[in-house]
Amino acid sequence: MPKPLRFAHAVLQSYDMPRLFAWYKDAFELEVLAQNERAAICTYDEEHHRFAFTQMPGEAPAERQKSPLKHLAYAYGSLDDLVAQYRKMKGLGSLPVECVNHGPTLSFYYEDPDGNGVEFFVDRFATMDESKAYLASASFQKNLFGYYVDPELVAAQVDQGVPAAQIMAYDQQAADDFMKARAS
Ligand SMILES: [Fe+2]
Repeated sequence: MPKPLRFAHAVLQSYDMPRLFAWYKDAFELEVLAQNERAAICTYDEEHHRFAFTQMPGEAPAERQKSPLKHLAYAYGSLDDLVAQYRKMKGLGSLPVECVNHGPTLSFYYEDPDGNGVEFFVDRFATMDESKAYLASASFQKNLFGYYVDPELVAAQVDQGVPAAQIMAYDQQAADDFMKARAS
């Protein structure tokens, strides 16, 4: 079976393209390849484009439903980088709506100005084989979510020089408590 070589880009359409574009431009420090008043095409790396934004015609409906896009997810190479991104976003006035230790990843979730989700995460495991094995484990199978973490606490621990593996260590008790609280 043919498989795609890579995931290349996302295109987001908006009733307020300039506002949406500005959020992503800052969040990803985008390089703009082409732009007019109806569209913008941008990248953050060697790929020719990673994002495009297009303007929807007309006015936004009076009662816009929540975006059907749950989230786009972006992996960072280290916990230090994830925390640096968190601090940069905080400086831009964007705080995560949820921060979760899922087990395979530590994930910070944001909402863009149109309500689309954006996940910034770091893998807890060094290899994809380890991550896949974890997804198949009993620990993960009984709680596919994980538990919430405090990003300020994570950032403070990074500053204190606590090893990333220790900061991201999966707290099984917290995971079990989360499941109990959700069931009750
Ligand atoms: Fe995700």
